[in-house]
Amino acid sequence: MHTVLLLNGPNLNLLGSREPEIYGAATLAEIEEKCRSWGAELGLDVDCRQSNHEGELVELIHDAAGRCSGVVINAGAFTHTSVALLDAIRAVGLPTVEVHLSNVHARESFRRRSYIAQAALGAISGFGADSYRLALQALALHLSATGSPTTGSPTTGSPGSG
Ligand code: DQA
Repeated sequence: MHTVLLLNGPNLNLLGSREPEIYGAATLAEIEEKCRSWGAELGLDVDCRQSNHEGELVELIHDAAGRCSGVVINAGAFTHTSVALLDAIRAVGLPTVEVHLSNVHARESFRRRSYIAQAALGAISGFGADSYRLALQALALHLSATGSPTTGSPTTGSPGSG
């Protein structure tokens, strides 16, 4: 069983009441519950975390190294601004799928730039809560194709994991 970090960034704790016409009516707790059950169907143990703080998100990514096989991340607005999150994902080397509830390409132009995308396997955007389901499926496919061990580094193991 692979453990996967499901990381949500700023303002996503307000899902359910935050701009429901864009982000839907489901709360973050409801989406996380669905993700745990979708994950179980895929053989993934989904560890759900959320923070409004960039540094805390960086630390949660660091903490996933050696413990998780991959990351699904909705970095919220930090998607479009954060070199620190890009560097953290590169630093740990875990396969990462970027996810967005809304279709970021159909919105303001500043949402079209993603720093996360430069380190991610790919991105899923625009399918509401189902974006997370598709992201978990994509990560599960990647993990079974690469035969990644629980450390997430398919050929060499992760440094210090022992
Ligand atoms: C979002 C899209 C971002 O542009 C926005 O800042 C968010 C949510 C989404 O899930 O659609 O906070 O990541």
